[in-house]
Amino acid sequence: MHTEDFPMLKQDIIYLDNGATTLKPYAVIDAITDYYENYSANAHRGDYDISLKVDLAYENTRDIVKEFLNARYLEEIIFTSGATQSLNMIANGFFAPLLESGDEIIISKSEHASNVIPWFEIATAKNVHIKYVDLDDNHYVTINNLKKAITPNTKVIALAGITNVIGDERPIKEICKLAHEHNIFVVVDGAQSVPHLKTDVQDLDCDFLAFSAHKLCGPTGVGVLYGKIELLEHLIPQNYGGGMNETFDNESEVYLKSLPTRLEAGTPNIAGVIGLGAAINYLNQIGMENITSYERELRRYLINELMQIPHIDIINPESDSGIVAFNVDGIFAQDIAVYLNKYHVCIRAGNHCAKILKSEVGVTNTCRVSLYFYNTKRDVDKLVELLKDKNKIIEEMI
Ligand code: ALA
Repeated sequence: MHTEDFPMLKQDIIYLDNGATTLKPYAVIDAITDYYENYSANAHRGDYDISLKVDLAYENTRDIVKEFLNARYLEEIIFTSGATQSLNMIANGFFAPLLESGDEIIISKSEHASNVIPWFEIATAKNVHIKYVDLDDNHYVTINNLKKAITPNTKVIALAGITNVIGDERPIKEICKLAHEHNIFVVVDGAQSVPHLKTDVQDLDCDFLAFSAHKLCGPTGVGVLYGKIELLEHLIPQNYGGGMNETFDNESEVYLKSLPTRLEAGTPNIAGVIGLGAAINYLNQIGMENITSYERELRRYLINELMQIPHIDIINPESDSGIVAFNVDGIFAQDIAVYLNKYHVCIRAGNHCAKILKSEVGVTNTCRVSLYFYNTKRDVDKLVELLKDKNKIIEEMI
């Protein structure tokens, strides 16, 4: 649906790599171009009209994000360069000072690198243990397995809302309830979930959430760190500089601004933030519930089609997100991606930055299709047609 909104779709391509990044609609491109063409001043610094216009547009996005996530306060929305920076800020600015030797952080083996390596770094520096919650036969996190993993030393559970290879939707609300009963904080990597599911941070009751604009039709290089205000107040800035300080003196005394500015040092990605606001407005017009249900239906269609092909092994047939990981018997995943590319079909192949997942699923590389609402049954049909004939794939590889 809404394919006409995306200039990239005028090209002869079938874009099925939305887990990596999404295409941008005119509404987003126009909002960014409008900023650069008509009012490209800095934010929070000028006393002239176009600068005020920038301030209003920039802070308007904060309002849009607050409503989108149903956060309680504007100050709970921090603009970052993306989910990776948000997760690093959470780990290093909040948890590194808090955690003590012997504490435990629970993650899973299906997390993306950005929700693994920052925790590894803290574990090494502070003698904190990383624990992997057992995954079930479908490679899912279950509440029962989490209960088994939690000990009195567990301080943080950090999990993706939807994982980027298995595509499973985690029961975040139940996880938060369980965690909070044990005084454990919950960090949600929302990179793959926020673009596809209605996310209500008050309902979920998560402590922190990270996501990127570019996976929800927005620009690259911008994202959001959400945190409960009482926790964000204790998050130590990882960047110091202009904009975030009230004043400083020659005795090295620095007085910081209040939230959210304190955590947004330097000239921000103004065009990116404006583009993020336009992207969320665009998604809201379509409706997040409509996006979720459309993707689920398209996913079921794709799975049913792939199931008919004997030489295809689907890694995650039961998941209900738009992420479908598979392999073609005896053919290297990257070769499949290169073959499909000849027909202008874009998928991702490899380990997808989830490098410890291989010990769970038993395969290192997979092909990954990741759908979004502008994909169609025709896109799926084309993919399936190309994958059906194994001899053709082999011939064309030679
Ligand atoms: N994290 C992105 C993906 O899964 C890049 O493809």
